[in-house]
Amino acid sequence: MAEYRLDKFLALNGVGTRSQVKELIRKGLIRINGEAAKKPEQKIDPQKDQITAEGRILNFSETVYYMLHKPAGVITATDDKRHQTVMDLLEEKRTDLFPVGRLDIDTEGLLLITNDGETGHRLLSPKRHVDKTYYVETDSPIPSDAGERFAAGLDLGDFTSMPAHFELLSPNSGKLTIHEGKFHQVKRMFEAVGTTVVYLKRLTMGPLVLDETLEKGAYRKLTETEVEAIRTI
Ligand code: URA
Repeated sequence: MAEYRLDKFLALNGVGTRSQVKELIRKGLIRINGEAAKKPEQKIDPQKDQITAEGRILNFSETVYYMLHKPAGVITATDDKRHQTVMDLLEEKRTDLFPVGRLDIDTEGLLLITNDGETGHRLLSPKRHVDKTYYVETDSPIPSDAGERFAAGLDLGDFTSMPAHFELLSPNSGKLTIHEGKFHQVKRMFEAVGTTVVYLKRLTMGPLVLDETLEKGAYRKLTETEVEAIRTI
Protein backbone atom coordinates (compact mmCIF):
# COMPACT_ATOMS: atom_id res chain seq x y z
CA MET A 1 0.00 0.00 0.00
CA ALA A 2 1.13 3.48 -0.79
CA GLU A 3 2.59 5.90 1.67
CA TYR A 4 0.70 9.07 2.41
CA ARG A 5 1.52 12.46 3.77
CA LEU A 6 0.08 12.51 7.28
CA ASP A 7 -2.07 15.60 6.67
CA LYS A 8 -3.56 14.13 3.50
CA PHE A 9 -4.29 10.83 5.24
CA LEU A 10 -6.03 12.64 8.10
CA ALA A 11 -8.05 14.82 5.74
CA LEU A 12 -9.11 11.77 3.70
CA ASN A 13 -10.27 10.16 6.93
CA GLY A 14 -12.50 13.11 7.66
CA VAL A 15 -10.49 14.24 10.68
CA GLY A 16 -10.64 17.83 9.43
CA THR A 17 -9.41 20.19 6.77
CA ARG A 18 -5.69 20.42 6.15
CA SER A 19 -5.46 23.47 8.43
CA GLN A 20 -7.54 21.87 11.21
CA VAL A 21 -5.37 18.80 10.94
CA LYS A 22 -2.23 20.92 11.22
CA GLU A 23 -3.58 22.43 14.41
CA LEU A 24 -4.31 18.98 15.89
CA ILE A 25 -0.75 17.92 15.08
CA ARG A 26 0.62 21.09 16.70
CA LYS A 27 -1.35 20.30 19.84
CA GLY A 28 0.06 16.77 19.92
CA LEU A 29 -3.36 15.16 19.43
CA ILE A 30 -2.30 13.02 16.48
CA ARG A 31 -0.23 9.95 17.32
CA ILE A 32 1.69 7.62 15.07
CA ASN A 33 2.37 4.27 16.74
CA GLY A 34 1.83 5.92 20.10
CA GLU A 35 4.19 8.86 19.49
CA ALA A 36 2.91 12.38 18.94
CA ALA A 37 3.23 13.32 15.27
CA LYS A 38 5.48 16.28 14.59
CA LYS A 39 5.01 17.37 11.02
CA PRO A 40 1.99 17.44 8.67
CA GLU A 41 4.16 16.40 5.75
CA GLN A 42 5.64 13.32 7.36
CA LYS A 43 4.99 10.08 5.51
CA ILE A 44 2.94 7.25 6.97
CA ASP A 45 1.97 3.83 5.71
CA PRO A 46 -1.69 3.18 6.65
CA GLN A 47 -1.10 -0.57 6.58
CA LYS A 48 1.86 -0.58 8.96
CA ASP A 49 1.37 2.46 11.15
CA GLN A 50 -1.32 2.92 13.74
CA ILE A 51 -2.63 6.46 13.55
CA THR A 52 -4.87 7.96 16.20
CA ALA A 53 -6.65 11.31 16.27
CA GLU A 54 -7.57 12.47 19.78
CA GLY A 55 -7.32 8.84 20.89
CA ARG A 56 -9.52 7.45 18.09
CA ILE A 57 -7.89 4.81 15.90
CA LEU A 58 -8.28 5.58 12.21
CA ASN A 59 -9.20 2.53 10.20
CA PHE A 60 -8.48 3.79 6.77
CA SER A 61 -10.02 1.95 3.90
CA GLU A 62 -7.70 3.13 1.23
CA THR A 63 -9.82 2.70 -1.83
CA VAL A 64 -13.46 3.60 -2.34
CA TYR A 65 -15.70 2.70 -5.24
CA TYR A 66 -19.10 4.18 -6.02
CA MET A 67 -21.62 3.19 -8.66
CA LEU A 68 -23.52 6.28 -9.75
CA HIS A 69 -26.68 6.33 -11.84
CA LYS A 70 -25.76 9.40 -13.82
CA PRO A 71 -28.73 11.56 -14.77
CA ALA A 72 -28.83 13.68 -17.94
CA GLY A 73 -27.77 17.32 -17.58
CA VAL A 74 -24.74 16.60 -15.40
CA ILE A 75 -21.24 16.54 -16.80
CA THR A 76 -18.61 13.89 -16.22
CA ALA A 77 -15.84 16.05 -14.77
CA THR A 78 -14.45 16.81 -11.35
CA ASP A 79 -14.90 20.55 -11.61
CA ASP A 80 -16.83 22.88 -13.90
CA LYS A 81 -17.85 26.51 -13.68
CA ARG A 82 -21.12 26.27 -15.61
CA HIS A 83 -22.58 22.84 -15.04
CA GLN A 84 -23.26 20.55 -12.16
CA THR A 85 -20.74 17.69 -12.22
CA VAL A 86 -21.07 14.06 -11.26
CA MET A 87 -18.85 14.81 -8.26
CA ASP A 88 -21.41 17.35 -7.00
CA LEU A 89 -23.86 14.44 -6.64
CA LEU A 90 -21.65 12.74 -4.04
CA GLU A 91 -21.97 13.67 -0.42
CA GLU A 92 -18.37 12.71 0.18
CA LYS A 93 -16.04 15.53 -0.80
CA ARG A 94 -12.78 13.62 -1.04
CA THR A 95 -10.45 15.30 -3.45
CA ASP A 96 -8.89 12.08 -4.72
CA LEU A 97 -12.07 10.68 -6.33
CA PHE A 98 -12.49 10.68 -10.09
CA PRO A 99 -15.00 9.33 -12.61
CA VAL A 100 -13.79 6.35 -14.65
CA GLY A 101 -14.41 7.35 -18.24
CA ARG A 102 -16.81 9.87 -19.62
CA LEU A 103 -20.50 9.92 -20.40
CA ASP A 104 -21.90 12.79 -22.48
CA ILE A 105 -23.99 15.40 -20.69
CA ASP A 106 -27.20 13.90 -22.10
CA THR A 107 -26.20 10.26 -21.44
CA GLU A 108 -27.54 8.48 -18.38
CA GLY A 109 -26.56 5.34 -16.57
CA LEU A 110 -23.65 3.54 -15.01
CA LEU A 111 -20.64 5.55 -13.94
CA LEU A 112 -17.91 4.30 -11.63
CA ILE A 113 -16.30 6.82 -9.31
CA THR A 114 -13.23 5.81 -7.36
CA ASN A 115 -9.88 6.88 -5.98
CA ASP A 116 -8.26 3.67 -7.23
CA GLY A 117 -6.22 5.04 -10.10
CA GLU A 118 -4.75 1.71 -11.10
CA THR A 119 -8.11 -0.03 -11.51
CA GLY A 120 -9.59 3.04 -13.19
CA HIS A 121 -6.84 3.12 -15.76
CA ARG A 122 -7.06 -0.62 -16.34
CA LEU A 123 -10.80 -0.35 -17.05
CA LEU A 124 -10.15 2.42 -19.57
CA SER A 125 -7.03 0.99 -21.15
CA PRO A 126 -7.49 0.69 -24.93
CA LYS A 127 -5.53 -2.58 -24.72
CA ARG A 128 -8.09 -4.30 -22.51
CA HIS A 129 -11.22 -3.69 -24.59
CA VAL A 130 -13.51 -3.66 -21.58
CA ASP A 131 -17.06 -4.19 -22.88
CA LYS A 132 -19.68 -1.51 -22.36
CA THR A 133 -23.36 -2.06 -23.09
CA TYR A 134 -25.68 0.83 -23.90
CA TYR A 135 -29.43 1.03 -24.24
CA VAL A 136 -30.19 3.25 -27.23
CA GLU A 137 -33.29 4.95 -28.63
CA THR A 138 -33.25 6.56 -32.06
CA ASP A 139 -35.34 9.16 -33.88
CA SER A 140 -36.12 6.83 -36.79
CA PRO A 141 -36.34 3.08 -37.28
CA ILE A 142 -32.97 1.37 -36.97
CA PRO A 143 -31.97 0.08 -40.44
CA SER A 144 -32.24 -3.69 -40.80
CA ASP A 145 -28.54 -4.05 -41.67
CA ALA A 146 -27.36 -2.09 -38.59
CA GLY A 147 -26.55 -5.21 -36.54
CA GLU A 148 -24.46 -6.67 -39.35
CA ARG A 149 -22.63 -3.41 -39.92
CA PHE A 150 -21.88 -3.00 -36.19
CA ALA A 151 -20.63 -6.59 -36.10
CA ALA A 152 -18.36 -6.02 -39.08
CA GLY A 153 -16.77 -2.89 -37.62
CA LEU A 154 -17.55 0.60 -38.88
CA ASP A 155 -15.20 3.11 -40.44
CA LEU A 156 -15.81 6.28 -38.42
CA GLY A 157 -13.15 8.39 -40.08
CA ASP A 158 -10.53 8.62 -37.34
CA PHE A 159 -10.91 4.95 -36.38
CA THR A 160 -12.75 1.75 -37.23
CA SER A 161 -14.90 0.40 -34.44
CA MET A 162 -14.22 -3.13 -33.29
CA PRO A 163 -16.93 -5.72 -33.96
CA ALA A 164 -19.84 -4.75 -31.74
CA HIS A 165 -22.88 -6.74 -30.68
CA PHE A 166 -26.32 -5.31 -31.32
CA GLU A 167 -29.68 -6.54 -30.11
CA LEU A 168 -32.77 -4.88 -31.59
CA LEU A 169 -35.50 -4.39 -28.98
CA SER A 170 -38.06 -2.43 -31.01
CA PRO A 171 -37.97 -0.53 -34.34
CA ASN A 172 -36.36 2.46 -32.59
CA SER A 173 -34.43 0.89 -29.72
CA GLY A 174 -31.79 -1.67 -28.93
CA LYS A 175 -28.74 -2.62 -26.90
CA LEU A 176 -25.25 -2.12 -28.26
CA THR A 177 -22.11 -3.61 -26.73
CA ILE A 178 -18.85 -1.96 -27.74
CA HIS A 179 -15.27 -2.84 -26.87
CA GLU A 180 -13.68 0.58 -26.87
CA GLY A 181 -14.79 3.96 -25.60
CA LYS A 182 -14.03 6.68 -28.09
CA PHE A 183 -15.56 10.14 -27.94
CA HIS A 184 -19.31 10.01 -28.83
CA GLN A 185 -18.72 6.50 -30.11
CA VAL A 186 -22.24 5.10 -29.82
CA LYS A 187 -23.86 8.21 -31.29
CA ARG A 188 -21.36 8.18 -34.16
CA MET A 189 -21.96 4.49 -34.86
CA PHE A 190 -25.71 5.04 -35.18
CA GLU A 191 -25.17 8.14 -37.33
CA ALA A 192 -22.96 5.99 -39.59
CA VAL A 193 -25.79 3.52 -40.18
CA GLY A 194 -28.29 6.29 -40.88
CA THR A 195 -30.16 7.11 -37.67
CA THR A 196 -29.76 9.49 -34.74
CA VAL A 197 -29.54 8.60 -31.06
CA VAL A 198 -32.08 10.51 -29.00
CA TYR A 199 -31.61 8.65 -25.71
CA LEU A 200 -28.55 6.83 -24.42
CA LYS A 201 -28.03 4.95 -21.17
CA ARG A 202 -25.02 2.88 -20.14
CA LEU A 203 -26.06 -0.42 -18.60
CA THR A 204 -22.74 -2.19 -18.03
CA MET A 205 -19.01 -1.61 -17.88
CA GLY A 206 -16.92 -4.77 -17.78
CA PRO A 207 -18.30 -6.87 -14.93
CA LEU A 208 -20.31 -3.98 -13.46
CA VAL A 209 -24.05 -3.84 -14.12
CA LEU A 210 -26.11 -0.75 -13.35
CA ASP A 211 -28.13 -1.36 -10.20
CA GLU A 212 -31.63 -0.55 -11.43
CA THR A 213 -32.77 0.13 -7.86
CA LEU A 214 -30.63 3.28 -7.96
CA GLU A 215 -32.72 6.31 -8.88
CA LYS A 216 -31.18 8.75 -11.35
CA GLY A 217 -28.62 10.79 -9.45
CA ALA A 218 -28.31 8.18 -6.68
CA TYR A 219 -25.22 6.12 -5.94
CA ARG A 220 -24.00 3.34 -3.71
CA LYS A 221 -20.73 1.73 -2.73
CA LEU A 222 -19.73 -1.28 -4.79
CA THR A 223 -20.18 -4.60 -3.05
CA GLU A 224 -17.08 -6.64 -2.20
CA THR A 225 -17.87 -8.98 -5.09
CA GLU A 226 -18.06 -6.07 -7.51
CA VAL A 227 -14.80 -4.60 -6.22
CA GLU A 228 -13.09 -7.96 -6.57
CA ALA A 229 -14.45 -8.29 -10.12
CA ILE A 230 -13.14 -4.94 -11.34
CA ARG A 231 -9.82 -5.30 -9.56
CA THR A 232 -9.10 -8.59 -11.26
CA ILE A 233 -9.96 -7.84 -14.87
N1 URA B 1 -21.10 6.91 -26.62
C1 URA B 1 -21.62 8.15 -26.81
O1 URA B 1 -21.88 8.55 -27.92
N2 URA B 1 -21.88 8.88 -25.72
C2 URA B 1 -21.66 8.47 -24.46
O2 URA B 1 -21.93 9.19 -23.50
C3 URA B 1 -21.10 7.18 -24.29
C4 URA B 1 -20.82 6.44 -25.39
